[in-house]
Amino acid sequence: MRKIAIVGFKGGIGKTTTCVNLGAALALRGHKVLLIDTDTQANLAVALGVKDYKDCLADVLIRKANASDVILEARKNLDLLPSSLKLFKAQQRMVLEMAREEIFEELFAGLEGYDYQLLDCAPSLSLLTINAIVYVDEVIIPVSMEMLAMAGAAQFINYLKDISRVLGKSAEIRLIVPTMYDSRRRVSKQVVRLLKDLGPRVAKPIRVDTQLSEAPGYGKTIFEYAPRSRGAVDYARLTETVAEMPPLSTNNAKPNPDTVAGEVQGG
Ligand SMILES: Nc1ncnc2c1ncn2[C@@H]1O[C@H](COP(=O)(O)OP(=O)(O)O)[C@@H](O)[C@H]1O
Ligand SMILES: [Mg+2]
Repeated sequence: MRKIAIVGFKGGIGKTTTCVNLGAALALRGHKVLLIDTDTQANLAVALGVKDYKDCLADVLIRKANASDVILEARKNLDLLPSSLKLFKAQQRMVLEMAREEIFEELFAGLEGYDYQLLDCAPSLSLLTINAIVYVDEVIIPVSMEMLAMAGAAQFINYLKDISRVLGKSAEIRLIVPTMYDSRRRVSKQVVRLLKDLGPRVAKPIRVDTQLSEAPGYGKTIFEYAPRSRGAVDYARLTETVAEMPPLSTNNAKPNPDTVAGEVQGG
């Protein structure tokens, strides 16, 4: 099972869009996928058109429910552990009463039978995001085509290094994904060029596509809303890139330059 967090320091850079559509494409390829929403904004449920659920990650955190009981089937092969505004309160309690970074590991320990777990994260280094980073083995960082987003990505990579140094544990930055790429704007090319200097592998860009921004309004993935769109083509290609990456355990023998704190962690 691969556990991947979609993280970034800024809002509006394509984290949720990437989580939903990467997850949906992996499910369409026949993989069993679990999406975990760790953002209090609860965008995954909206984007997938999942409504009227009672319990969410907050109830798991305060130990009112088991993770497996809160999971919903969103599509064939695509399950969702949703979030809700309740998570905001639970997070405060988490900070006060159990400020620890391995809570996800304990609470999600029984979630088996998936090929992929994808975690959508909030645009901050909250305790929830730190728990997500500690729980996963791999990290994907989307970056929109703005200079400030690019600066945010560089900062985030440094923070990840700090976190892993402090915690003695590291997730590998597998991929930087340029999002909202517009070939007519010079800044798009500039940002992609700069991203390539950051170290981790840079994926082929996801182009700007209004249909990607419309789909969540209908509770649909891009493959349901506009299967022939640029967005669908680009996310299918990204999915191929992710699916074809060698599993981390096969990398274990040799040090990997992309690895945070120079330490490879088994998957
Ligand atoms: N490639 C794209 N082209 C056009 N709009 C996009 C694209 N990717 C994301 N969006 C839109 O940009 C906004 C922010 O994306 P989102 O995935 O919610 O970012 P984050 O989760 O990082 O805050 C959303 O309205 C989303 O629909
Ligand atoms: Mg989001």
